[in-house]
Amino acid sequence: MTPTELEFLSDLVRRRSGIVITRDKEYLLENRLSPIATQRKLAGLAGLVTALRRPDEALAREVVEAMTTNETLFFRDGRPFEMLRTEVLPMLLKERAASRGLRIWSAACSTGQEPYSIAMLLREEAVRLAGWRVSIVATDITRSVLTKARAGVYSQFEVQRGLPITLLVKYFKQVGTQWELDPALRAMVEFREHNIIQEAAPGAGFDIVFCRNLLIYFDQDQKRRVLNNLAASMAEDAVLFLGALGAYSASPIASNRSLKNVASIAVPAGL
Ligand SMILES: C[S@@+](CC[C@H](N)C(=O)[O-])C[C@H]1O[C@@H](n2cnc3c(N)ncnc32)[C@H](O)[C@@H]1O
Repeated sequence: MTPTELEFLSDLVRRRSGIVITRDKEYLLENRLSPIATQRKLAGLAGLVTALRRPDEALAREVVEAMTTNETLFFRDGRPFEMLRTEVLPMLLKERAASRGLRIWSAACSTGQEPYSIAMLLREEAVRLAGWRVSIVATDITRSVLTKARAGVYSQFEVQRGLPITLLVKYFKQVGTQWELDPALRAMVEFREHNIIQEAAPGAGFDIVFCRNLLIYFDQDQKRRVLNNLAASMAEDAVLFLGALGAYSASPIASNRSLKNVASIAVPAGL
């Protein structure tokens, strides 16, 4: 790949998704974009760049999607979900006792394991949430992962990653080699296509936002912009989950960090 091609491709991906591809990640462009060039019968990455310069919107989208990393698993890192159950939910149940409503956003949800983990956790708290209106909206830029997420069908390997056996047996049905999520649980999550750096939040006044393992791909300016936009989409005392570290909130729950500080200071690594 020539330096011009490298610059063109990484610039296209960064402008459209926020994802930064540094020079040492050039191999990623090669590995992930060469199959697209081959499939479209283009002359390698040089041909791909020529086709993109036309421009070609569908091809640009395909390139961006190919450069996303969709790694995810059920109850990833454990601790954020434990905090949600033991600290955040009790706090919000008290704070929202009058309205009896909870609005949750799983941003960059990939193939759905994160929002479905939240849905299972809430279902396990059904007694405390009886009579409450709970909505979970889950978004991602990548269409293929959203299609899989909506289907709610996972392989043996996927359900073995993070999902307790008790929840597997309770909420999934084995069909051949696959596991299908209970339709009632699936219906708890609304999946939407959404680009976090280009579009307004899919709602306002969220009480809980998960935005985990996304900012790590962005540069500092983009992280700050996304965090400010997230903060603007959240209720005053809402809680933001980032990475594996825990929760950020404007209200004084245990182990929290101020949301205002997160948005205005350097974002911790590994988010
Ligand atoms: C590593 S996964 C994280 C999944 C899940 N949040 C977790 O922690 O397990 C990152 C996801 O971010 C999505 N993504 C990347 N850029 C995005 C953007 N600009 N807007 C929305 N989603 C984006 C990717 O498609 C990918 O599915």
